Amino acid sequence: MSRTESKTWGVMAEFESVDGILHAAAEVRKAGFTRWDCYTPVPVHGLDEVMGVRPTRLPWIILIMGAVGIGAAQLMQHWMNGVDYPFNISGKPLISWPSAIPVTFEMMVLFAAFTAFFAMWIANDLPRWFHPLHHKPRFARATNDRFFVAIEARDPQFDEQRTADFLRGLHSGSVETVEMPAGSKKMPTGLARALVVMSCAALIPPAMIYNARHEPSGDPPINLVPDMDDQAKFRPQGETPVFADGRMSRPSVEGSIARGELREDTAYWTGMQGEIFIAKVPSSVKVTPELIDRGEQRYGIYCAPCHDHTGSGNGTVHQAAVLLAELGKATWTQPTSLHDERVRGLPDGDIYNTIRVGKTTMPGYGSQIPAADRWAIVLYVRALQASRQQ
Ligand code: HEC
Repeated sequence: MSRTESKTWGVMAEFESVDGILHAAAEVRKAGFTRWDCYTPVPVHGLDEVMGVRPTRLPWIILIMGAVGIGAAQLMQHWMNGVDYPFNISGKPLISWPSAIPVTFEMMVLFAAFTAFFAMWIANDLPRWFHPLHHKPRFARATNDRFFVAIEARDPQFDEQRTADFLRGLHSGSVETVEMPAGSKKMPTGLARALVVMSCAALIPPAMIYNARHEPSGDPPINLVPDMDDQAKFRPQGETPVFADGRMSRPSVEGSIARGELREDTAYWTGMQGEIFIAKVPSSVKVTPELIDRGEQRYGIYCAPCHDHTGSGNGTVHQAAVLLAELGKATWTQPTSLHDERVRGLPDGDIYNTIRVGKTTMPGYGSQIPAADRWAIVLYVRALQASRQQ
């Protein structure tokens, strides 16, 4: 067939009422046609069943692709964070599925949405530039007050004459043959041109990125919104003529107290009553088994490296320091045995004070260990001493 000739696309029949189209659809289906469709100005209830249209499988495809998105996101992040570039952040596990949830959610939505979009196009034979029915002036009423059935020529049962007669037999208002004009499958020229222009325009950003990466420039960046970079503000280590001392960061006003740090209870904070160490842990400390457990744990972290877990003063730091001292590279005093008769006799407040400010060669741990934990450690030291009678 030459390009200028048109061929038959199908046959269309017009009906005036919902009943007419329902009856016609039932008959067309009964006659065994498979390539046909109904066109109605309003949704017609029951038409799908009469036509034998199966419910769409699209939701299942979307569900499956959403699950694929979940799997892909988990695998991707496990591979990136656990295998390709393992990076220890505060000792968190490298592979942990809950931490990958945000990206997993996004990928699920992405896969499902793209599937819904593209599968819908494919399932509906889209994009289609043109539909032969639109060339029939009568067919315009399909959006207004007429109902149409069209049987396509590609239906195996199609025969132009017999199919038209069959439709006429269904009390149709009119039956017309629909032509497929030659060349109608071509993309409209205007659209083709627009696509070419858009594709070329889409190359500009990657070209700019390529250029920026391969031709570095010494010029300052073009700053469209300069107030983001350049703000009038005080920086921690900055200078300013506003204050007499020239510093931007201001020391806190004398006498200011951080929340919860009003240290009225001097015995609790310093372990001393006046000039004298308190004999026992202050009454504001509630002595519980949990507190002693806490003390044991803190002792293991802060004290055992020197005093060792039994308290005898043979910790790993001590052992290493002795070696250095033998080589003449350090001077070292052995940590006192906490079972020493003298230490047993020390008031609780003294031990607390030693933890807080240190003792000769033992550094103070006041800045690392909060007061509550210091008392917990004191309790644990007492427990250690009680565990071994000398
Ligand atoms: C860096 C090693 C080191 C660490 C850590 C350390 N100590 Fe000591 N500690 C020493 C040394 C050394 C001495 C002996 C100081 C001296 O007499 O010159 C000592 C002495 C002591 C004494 C005896 C003080 C006295 O009055 O004679 C006590 C009690 C004590 N430490 C408790 C602790 C507790 C509790 C911790 C944990 C918070 C701790 N130490 C952490 C090295 C350490």
